[in-house]
Amino acid sequence: MKRETSATVVAWVLAAVTAMGCGSAGEQQQAPRPWYHQDPSQGAPRVEAPVSVDPAIETAQDPIWRELWVPIDNPERERSGSVQLVQQLVDARPGMVIADVGAGGGFFTFQWARTVGATGFIHSIDIDRRMTRKLSYESAARGVTNMDATQVPIGTLGLAPRSVDLVTFLDTGAFMTCEPARNEGYFRQAAEALRPGGRLLILNNVDVAGEQGDSPCEVPSAEEMIEMASPRFTTVSRHTLHEGGWSAWLLVFERRS
Ligand SMILES: C[S@@+](CC[C@H](N)C(=O)[O-])C[C@H]1O[C@@H](n2cnc3c(N)ncnc32)[C@H](O)[C@@H]1O
Repeated sequence: MKRETSATVVAWVLAAVTAMGCGSAGEQQQAPRPWYHQDPSQGAPRVEAPVSVDPAIETAQDPIWRELWVPIDNPERERSGSVQLVQQLVDARPGMVIADVGAGGGFFTFQWARTVGATGFIHSIDIDRRMTRKLSYESAARGVTNMDATQVPIGTLGLAPRSVDLVTFLDTGAFMTCEPARNEGYFRQAAEALRPGGRLLILNNVDVAGEQGDSPCEVPSAEEMIEMASPRFTTVSRHTLHEGGWSAWLLVFERRS
């Protein structure tokens, strides 16, 4: 999340999208999965087959990924003000169903899986197959059964209607000013997936920006996000974070009934 590394993060995310594999090895051996993970009309996201060997995360050279995004157990990150605010706003409780969109290495996924317990569930979702393979590997290795890991095509959430209490996008860069249709699609899909009273929490580093040809493509401002969300969501709270040289906005929305 550091300022100087934000461009690297975006470059990596773009590279990950480009490099994303399309095969689904071992699909026939997978255990039965919920219909909404298999129905092509729902965008055909896939659940990874169980992974028994720790898959290599090929970003190991990049310190921000090695030190920040990939590790699950990171006490220093847990203590940071931004993470504590996220945890306070998420307010995970037993029985909750949470969609962790852009789950990365699973830092939040595994903490929430512990808190929501056997009656809750965490859907960890990512566009990068290396991340979902890592999540599958870790869930098997740690014996965490109340979660799944789904690789989705960009722009897709792949969640069943009215099935989750909370959708989070934490430092994903999924919303960009040059992608209005995709932004709108995320708000629509999140609203459809949420149960009545369900919440949507989005955190974005304001320094993350990329270039697409000549047109600037940036993270929307908090005001732009609130406006985009407004047809389907009311704004519950808005926060600005400053930590270690970077700044971010954090927005909490509630689905309109
Ligand atoms: C910077 S990491 C953050 C990981 C995690 N949320 C955390 O805070 O530890 C961003 C992750 O979001 C994923 N991502 C980026 N754009 C996405 C999108 N449109 N939909 C789903 N995942 C996305 C990337 O592949 C990457 O794993």
